[in-house]
Amino acid sequence: MTPTRAALPVASAFGVDIGGSGIKGGPVDLATGRLAKGRERIATPQPATPAAVAATVAELLGRFEVPEGTPVGVTFPAVVHHGVARSAANVDSSWIGTSIEDVVGSALDRPVHAVNDADAAGYAEVRYGAAAGTRGVVLVVTLGTGIGTALIADGRLVPSFELGHLEIDGVDAETRASSAAREREGLSWQEWAERLQRYFGVLEDLLSPDLFVVGGGVSKQADQFLPLLDLRAPIVPARLRNAAGIVGAAALAARAAGKAVTA
Ligand code: BGC
Repeated sequence: MTPTRAALPVASAFGVDIGGSGIKGGPVDLATGRLAKGRERIATPQPATPAAVAATVAELLGRFEVPEGTPVGVTFPAVVHHGVARSAANVDSSWIGTSIEDVVGSALDRPVHAVNDADAAGYAEVRYGAAAGTRGVVLVVTLGTGIGTALIADGRLVPSFELGHLEIDGVDAETRASSAAREREGLSWQEWAERLQRYFGVLEDLLSPDLFVVGGGVSKQADQFLPLLDLRAPIVPARLRNAAGIVGAAALAARAAGKAVTA
């Protein structure tokens, strides 16, 4: 792929979405929540050790012209507490206890703000997507290799609200109800929806959200399974699709740097 080098418009931040199979990123226009200059993707190195991943993030950023002072945010698919990885359900276990902000920040030679991937996607949906303008409690659930969750109350993200590993019927919820579980076990939409019904029903009993937003790659096929669910709250597909992590990481980095906006 030909590397892109493009100048960033004002009011931009750079977002990077670190996933198990790909590392994606690009500059984000914070006024609209859109990718300002397209995005680049590089396969996640294997093994996905901190040093290897940080070097890949640096390679990705090198494909753009990112002026000094531009906020840079990265997502990570695990618990991220003040920039430090605290779990590793679907990533290399050497990350546990590692400061993502230090290791990626050193590779980039600039400050980095690290957040959980579902928190980033959730924040993006609330600021720019399916939950924009919704008051009350929004629960964003990403269905992928794992289950990620983000809780947003009156537009404010409550970070690290990790509900994908709730133990339900004696089992870690994500091992039964993730999108990966559907694929692994060859479940029909109906069979998977029954598991989702149990999972979302528990979430609803615990939190009584005003809105559920469902993200992750499978949300493109939301018509196949969301209508099969029976919940009190409305449940809608995410809107930002595969840009949500990048957009949310960028917006949260800008917020952390004191450069932007409300929530
Ligand atoms: C992790 C979460 C993450 C989710 C989606 C889960 O296994 O524990 O932190 O948000 O997967 O990647």
